[in-house]
Formats: sequence, C-alpha cells, structure tokens
Amino acid sequence: MVHISRSRQDRSLRDLVDWEQGHVSREIYVNEDIYQQELEQIFGRAWLFVGHESQVPNPGDFFQSRMGEESVLLVRDRKGELHVFLNTCRHRGMKVCRYDEGNSLLFTCPFHGWSYDTDGRLVGVPNFQTAYRGELDKSAWGLHEVAQMSNFYGSIWATWDPKAPSFEDFLGAFVPSLRRSFEGSDGGDNGLEFFSPVQKWRLPTNWKFPGFSFAGDHAHGAMTHRSTTVAAFGPQGELAGGDRHGVPSRWASTEYEMSIPALGHGGHGRIYEQPGVGPYVETWQTVLQADDYYHEMRDKKAEKYAGQYLHGVSGCVFPNVICGGSRILLWHPHGVGVTESWRFYTVDKGAPKPVKDAQRRYMMRYCGPGGMTESDDMENWNYAYPASLGTVARRLDYNFQNGVGHAYADDRVPGFTLNYRIGEENQRSRLRRWLDFMEAGSWDELSPAKR
Ligand code: FES
Ligand SMILES: [Fe+2]
Repeated sequence: MVHISRSRQDRSLRDLVDWEQGHVSREIYVNEDIYQQELEQIFGRAWLFVGHESQVPNPGDFFQSRMGEESVLLVRDRKGELHVFLNTCRHRGMKVCRYDEGNSLLFTCPFHGWSYDTDGRLVGVPNFQTAYRGELDKSAWGLHEVAQMSNFYGSIWATWDPKAPSFEDFLGAFVPSLRRSFEGSDGGDNGLEFFSPVQKWRLPTNWKFPGFSFAGDHAHGAMTHRSTTVAAFGPQGELAGGDRHGVPSRWASTEYEMSIPALGHGGHGRIYEQPGVGPYVETWQTVLQADDYYHEMRDKKAEKYAGQYLHGVSGCVFPNVICGGSRILLWHPHGVGVTESWRFYTVDKGAPKPVKDAQRRYMMRYCGPGGMTESDDMENWNYAYPASLGTVARRLDYNFQNGVGHAYADDRVPGFTLNYRIGEENQRSRLRRWLDFMEAGSWDELSPAKR
C-alpha cells in the first residue's frame, strides 16, 4: 500500500479516495509516487486496448501501439496469427521498430542487428557462430509477448498478467454493449475498420482527467461546449436542427449514467421504451449518398434486432479507453502530468468511399486535436492540472458528490447501476475500481466477489 508523506499527514490511499462520499484527494492526480504505482498496479495488470485487426490485415503488417508508458507492436505473423510484443530488443533494449505502422517479415534491431521473425522468435544474431560460438540459446531470447491477448469482434486487447481473468470476465455485464460498439451500422458483428493514421498528441494533464471524466461527466457539456453546440457543425448542420452531434433515433428512451461499480466500466446509456431499432433520421445534409447508405444499413439492423430491446451504454472500459460513437478515445499515461491521447476513428468496412470520406471529415471537425469539441475539453483538463499542483491547492479534495446515494439497479439492464443522466456516478465507479487495483496484491483479490 502506498503511503503519502508529502501531504499534511500520512494518509493511506483509502483515506485519499472516499468514493462513497465523493471526496477525493488531489494527491492521486498529482503525486509522482502514486503515478508510479499506477503503472505497476493498473497498467501492468488490467486488460488494455491495443488496436484493431483491420490495421494489420496481411502477414507482416504491424502497428506500433502502447500499453501504459511502453511501446508495443501489434503484428500479424507469416501464418496470419496476431501477436502483441513489447517493442524492445532482448539484447540491450533498443526499440526494434520505430515506424508507426507498416509491413515487414523481419524486425532487425538497428543497434547490433539481432533479428526477430513476425512471431517473435529470435532468428538472426550477427557473429553467432564466431563470437557467440553458436552457444547463445536463441529460443530463450525472443521478443517479450503479452501474457494474454483477446480479439473481441475485431478489436485487440492485451494484458501483461497471466493471472488476469478472460477479457469477457474483465468486462462482465459490459460485454453486449462493447460488442455493439464494434458492429457495423447494419448490426453485423465486427463490421468496422479503422481509419489510418491514428491521431496522437500530448496534453499537459494527468491521464485520469480525461480518462475518468470522459463519458462520466455529463455536467460539463452545457457550459464547456456551449459555443460548439450553437455552431452546429454536426452532419445535419444548423438548418436541419442539428448541433455538434449526429442526431440519434428519436424513439422514446431515457438516458442515464450507467455503470458497473465493481468493475469500473460505464458511460452514458439509454433504456428504450420499445424493442427494435428506431426509424432512420436524415443525417447527412450535404452528402446524400451517405444518407442513402446509412438508411439502408439501418433497415438491415432493424431486421436483425426486430423484437429485441437495445438498452445499453457506450463508454469507458476501465482504465483508459472509451469505445463508441465512431471513435476510440485512448489516454495513455506519459508521466504524472502528461497524457498521450490517441484517437482512432471507425467506419463501416463495406461503406462506399464517399461515405467513408464524409465520416472522416465529420470526425475530424468534431474531435481530436484539431476538432472543435475536444479543444473545449482540453482547456479544462490542461488548466485544472496545474491549478491543483500548488502547495495549498493540493491540500484540498475534489468534489465528486453529484448524485451520491441515488444510484439504483434496474432489471432491464442487469449488472448496471443507474443514476440521473447528469451526475458523477461513472467517475465514482472508476475511482472505486482504481482503489481496488491500487490496493490489491493479485488478481485473486480483484475479483468483484472479494471486494
Ligand atoms: S540492442 Fe538490439 S541488437 Fe543489440
Ligand atoms: Fe466534452
């Protein structure tokens, strides 16, 4: 357990995080020791998002991703199998690959020339017969591979911990919602592909500011995004009654904060008053082909889901990724006061090019480093962090009391806890799971039944 001696008194993590009452010390956002513990306890053990199989369709394709602060390679080997390797040479640590993505049937280290095959085997060592006398056990010095990898409807996840539960058990009641995040708009499983390249940029803030508040802080929208909402740069534009978002089906539903407190996953969800898929809403004011395409896809989806309720949520998979809404938002820790933000945009695999282009342009003006919406968000996160660093400022707690004591279960969404749509239930759930990870010595202790 981490003890913080820098603050007024020696406080344990449990003292610092009273998620039940909504009092949380700023120390957990600004303290270097706690940050180092997060890398071990959370990013060294949790299932993390790595990428998507559409980024590496052919043998030898690779995508350089990250887990926590560390570079990893998502690689499709010569036989077509996917792997996730730590991007470090087993000889003396050099990065074996410095490209963001590409194709190679061999990773040759630029330092002394050790070579690795796409399945991670060390296959080439210069001077192997002469200097090494053929004695080096190459089979013991391949690339370091993650302990477990999961291909979840095309999305790739991995963990360093061999004792972690299966990815499905890690998700718990979130499985159906996350599965739908990777559906095509016709309702078909694994129906998406990712645009390339990935947007990457760094924010001067702790990773939990975006990681825990995105899809967990509905209260900020009316204030923070007021101007972008008025600007109406969504697909419909102002004339069609749109705002910054695409307009969802107008079928009767109620929006909630929906979270799984014992697991830390959750976001904004809807409970519908009737089964099936609502009628199509004209969406693409200036790209009629996109409207025709999405209308047709929606009809197919309606056939698939006729009679079924589609209650569910898109949002955070603990600890640091948001999935849904045609994008994946991933916040990597990069030092206690720096977050490296990655943005992947998704589109139907089979969509015609003009539809893909329309989707890409909308996402670029909507979010990412040059998009209007996240520019608003970054102003807050990037100022809140330094304003919390001072000797006096860090003595004060943050307030997460919005909705405390008003969460409840609902039979229509088993496993979830509901609260009013504007609240901080999702953030309290993530803080609770954060505390579990930071205190637990093993995955055995992290089982929800034991918490
Ligand atoms: S560090 Fe890679 S070959 Fe020496
Ligand atoms: Fe926002």
